[in-house]
Amino acid sequence: MTVSTAPKYYVTTPIYYVNDAPHIGHAYTTLACDVLARFKRLDGFDVKFLTGTDEHGQKVEKSARAAKLDPKEFTDQVSENFRDIALRMGFSNDDFIRTTEERHRIACSAIWERLLKNNEIYLGSYAGWYAVRDEAFYADSEISANSNGANIAPSGAEVEWVEEPSYFFRLSEWQGRLLEYYDNHPDFILPKSRRNEVISFVKAGLQDLSISRTTFHWGVPVPNDKNHIMYVWLDALTNYITAIGFPETKTGEYARYWPADLHMVGKDILRFHAVYWPAFLMAAGLEPPKRVYAHGWWTNEGQKISKSLGNVINPFDLVDRYGLDQVRYFLLREVPFGNDGDFSHRAILQRANGELANDYGNLAQRVLSMIAKNCGARVPKPGQLSEDQDEALIGQSTALLPILRKHMDTQAFNEALEAIWSVVRAANGYVDAQAPWKLREKDPSRMNTVLYILAECIRHLAILTQPFMPEASSNLLDQLGIPATERTFGAITDEKKQLRPGLRLPVPKGVFPRLIDEEIK
Ligand code: MSP
Repeated sequence: MTVSTAPKYYVTTPIYYVNDAPHIGHAYTTLACDVLARFKRLDGFDVKFLTGTDEHGQKVEKSARAAKLDPKEFTDQVSENFRDIALRMGFSNDDFIRTTEERHRIACSAIWERLLKNNEIYLGSYAGWYAVRDEAFYADSEISANSNGANIAPSGAEVEWVEEPSYFFRLSEWQGRLLEYYDNHPDFILPKSRRNEVISFVKAGLQDLSISRTTFHWGVPVPNDKNHIMYVWLDALTNYITAIGFPETKTGEYARYWPADLHMVGKDILRFHAVYWPAFLMAAGLEPPKRVYAHGWWTNEGQKISKSLGNVINPFDLVDRYGLDQVRYFLLREVPFGNDGDFSHRAILQRANGELANDYGNLAQRVLSMIAKNCGARVPKPGQLSEDQDEALIGQSTALLPILRKHMDTQAFNEALEAIWSVVRAANGYVDAQAPWKLREKDPSRMNTVLYILAECIRHLAILTQPFMPEASSNLLDQLGIPATERTFGAITDEKKQLRPGLRLPVPKGVFPRLIDEEIK
């Protein structure tokens, strides 16, 4: 067996409820993780990127019933939609977990046994509010009435009164240790504003948590009591360790990858990940993850996205309409990651045409066609470089990688893209200032230098945009004649990997078409 000496990076998406078709929210969370996973792989990390589906619980059971299917049959069908979206969006996940798998039942039983052994669980009875939509329990003080007189949770979900025997987790005893953990790990919860919310919630006091149900049966059986199934959130959160071979902790993937470097989640499910999950883990004698990042929510043309409003954005349609790389770029560029964002067709068109087709696409197209026409389709040989012009642009290009590392390590995707675009713009400025087309007759050697510098700059850009826009970037790298082995970030820091003058290049072709949308004026 070969043991990798590369640093590891374990990143996870939430596992998605299969009662719904995949929508833009699901695609967004997984996209963010995909970009990080690709970035880290290119940067030499041994990456594990996990996604999957959350298939137990009342909500899924209800949907199965509505579809007149047995829950197992139903989940087998709908879980496929999430595999399909992963394929369509170019997601590079290394595993896809389903909570109905046997490996997961084993892991859930094992975490339960650990909690039981550590005296963290007791049998009692639950009487209180439950929201099936959120699969969450709510305190009386959190409930209000909506305009129809129905009782609702702060999330807007309708609640029902539940009374049943239940096992409880002694969450109330974890307040101090959780606060201490947040204190000692200031970047455990990002962004900072969300961290503060979680800390206030925990400071306000924690109640013991009901972690089993008896009034329905679609779940993982409690190992010591067959009348109970495990609460779907304890079941779901455990997926993050199931996928790395838990309960085996001493060797194998758990030993290599745990604690996870990042659980990416939406803001609505932060509490489960930043309060309950680290408490469950610590109580089971396991380490908490290193970071939970809560991103914001998308609205559609200013409106909340909901099935009842009929404005759900289907990511398959979006990709068909605008192209995969365009959608990937837009979602991560449009809003500062962590904030809420508004989707609009106008906005995606503007970015696809302005920043992709005009700024980046045109830069590459102009330079590659000049090389094809004026340099016999071969990488030109540079002459003497000028410090303030040529070296300045190359300097900016090589300075990008450490800047991007910093932004990616805090999940600041939009800032990473802005940094890349500052170089795209600088390169376009350089083309205009040097006007290589005018040098052909006058000073061909200077023209060669200018085009070489530009080709090198595009090589840097194309290597660095791979995590965000894998298709267009690989297309550009093909056009620059870069072999597959020289597309990692190592090729940026290694001077020997610079473009070799004389290398024959293929016929250039545009990578970002200008989009015309008849419906948008
Ligand atoms: N099954 C749970 C997660 C269990 S993880 C151990 C769940 N599933 S979900 O399918 O309802 O939601 C998954 C993710 O989609 C959440 O991170 C949620 O924030 C995200 N989004 C759902 N709608 C969204 C938007 N409109 N915008 C952005 N993301 C949103 O919760």
